[in-house]
Amino acid sequence: MAARGVGMLARLPLCAQRGQVLRPTHRLLSYPGPVAADLKREEQSSRNVETGSEDKTPKKKFSEVQKERREQAQRTVLIHCPSKISEKKFLKYLSQHGPISNHFFYESFGLYAVVEFCQKESVTSLQNVTRTPSMDTEAAIPFKSRFFNVKMKNPSNQTSEQPCIQCSNHTPPSSKKLSELLCYAESIDDQLNTLLKEFQLTEEDIKLRYLTCSLIEDLAAAYFQDCIVRPFGSSVNSFGKLGCDLDMFLDLGEIGKFNTNKTSGNFLMEFQVKNVSSERIATQKILSVIGECLDHFGPGCVGVQKILNARCPLVRFSHQASGFQCDLTTNNRIALKSSELLYIYGALDSRVRALVFCIRCWARAHSLTSSIPGSWITNFSLTMMVIFFLQRRSPPILPTLDYLKTLAGAEDKCIIEGHNCTFVSDLNRIKPSGNTETLESLLKEFFEYFGNFAFNKNSINIRQGREQNKPESSPLHIQNPFETSLNISKNVNQSQLQKFVDLARESAWILSQEDKDRPSPSSNRPWGLATLLLPSVVNSVSLAKKKKKKPASERIKNLLESIKSSSPENDTNTNGKRTVSTQA
Ligand code: GTP
Ligand code: MG
Repeated sequence: MAARGVGMLARLPLCAQRGQVLRPTHRLLSYPGPVAADLKREEQSSRNVETGSEDKTPKKKFSEVQKERREQAQRTVLIHCPSKISEKKFLKYLSQHGPISNHFFYESFGLYAVVEFCQKESVTSLQNVTRTPSMDTEAAIPFKSRFFNVKMKNPSNQTSEQPCIQCSNHTPPSSKKLSELLCYAESIDDQLNTLLKEFQLTEEDIKLRYLTCSLIEDLAAAYFQDCIVRPFGSSVNSFGKLGCDLDMFLDLGEIGKFNTNKTSGNFLMEFQVKNVSSERIATQKILSVIGECLDHFGPGCVGVQKILNARCPLVRFSHQASGFQCDLTTNNRIALKSSELLYIYGALDSRVRALVFCIRCWARAHSLTSSIPGSWITNFSLTMMVIFFLQRRSPPILPTLDYLKTLAGAEDKCIIEGHNCTFVSDLNRIKPSGNTETLESLLKEFFEYFGNFAFNKNSINIRQGREQNKPESSPLHIQNPFETSLNISKNVNQSQLQKFVDLARESAWILSQEDKDRPSPSSNRPWGLATLLLPSVVNSVSLAKKKKKKPASERIKNLLESIKSSSPENDTNTNGKRTVSTQA
């Protein structure tokens, strides 16, 4: 039965998605869906995050958020629309298949609509009236996905219908705009919160991430029925910056679980399967096939690379319509647990995310981190450093992982590949910290702490929340919280670590000068965080300080003195300024 209405839906032909991998500019257009009367207005809050609110409502468990978002994504479709579409008619047309609970538009080399139905059946109903496009010169592979193309049947009749779609831009602010926003802030605390607000993932961006995973899951399910594609990493751990990659985990674990519990009687049924010699080979084979599948049949999936010899084999591709760079892994359950742990830390105290975002932005501004793999510090390592630092405050702002383990209930018990990954999942069981330090003070202290950290002999360890002797000689040692014999920053070389230390010291110095230098609000001069995020300013401070360097003999004398008086209470020089000294 053909659907009546303004448009015809056709699944996107593969040929239209091939070609160059482009990084689109997202312009998200968000509207309440007029079709469903009971639309939840909270959905419109585009700067909303899962847990970051300061209200006293119980905080959701990570697994609850994942479950809700996944279910929501399964009721959602992605539609490529003509630019002159009438929103009202478009929604009316779609609502023939059932009520719509929410929708928004975004631009990414074309106009796209994300439409969430109230019921999953509506998606099937829509699929049933959708045709596979026929082409003159190319042939379409008839893959029925939830990614559609809508065309106008009679475009000439509808040209008078100008869309009244307002654009809301969801790209992070330009450096100029950011600098302005930071200059107008009232305090450094205000600056850190502004940075968080401007860079954190929006509600729509989060929805699009879950939807993209759900679309990939449909493809993978063609081979592995009941598989789940779960987002992990910064897309879900609450530390994601707009534009961050989309890490996906192809979870086949649930498949094997069904059999044992459901059997009764005298026999145990097993599937006939092919065996391979190791888990790693199985992972490589699965990813290889899924990679081919994405490349050949995946609407919107381009630039597929199979990186199967990496420590953690993966398939990397670009999901062109959403604009996400995706990394798909499997057999990577520990990373999902790490994401849950970071989510918990991010939700415990509002200062955590503000500080992590600030350090991530600072590191990016000074090229300490990079999107290209290499000897750089990663965002994951930086987050661990912030968490560790916050565990070291007095009183601590964050509890240790060992403490979170003591709060765990029976349902939280989790052993993965022999590693104990148990910790409490219910955030409401963790007492808030009594620490009242300001963000400004924490930022300054962070730079001082790591500007003076004895990286040569100590390891960072969030499980115990205290420095430990390094078990190996890598310049930077950050213990993997679950696979405790591993160092998550093994890739970092001495020169990158030194660059981090130098920048931390310069930044601590700049912040210690801040009170004296703070310009009047009317002047447009960068101050506070705005100065720290300008590479040229930090570098020029560094140069100026280097020029003023004291003779070596005097520096050695000072160093010895600073070692003698390295206790924190002695960490103030005669001018009353905090000093940044080298710790032995
Ligand atoms: P972005 O830079 O915003 O993408 O941060 P991210 O946290 O998503 O980092 P990334 O995409 O590099 O990695 C995704 C997830 O994989 C992380 O959040 C961790 O859970 C895990 N991960 C990354 N690097 C390591 C590592 O070196 N060791 C371990 N065990 N897990 C890692
Ligand atoms: Mg990531």
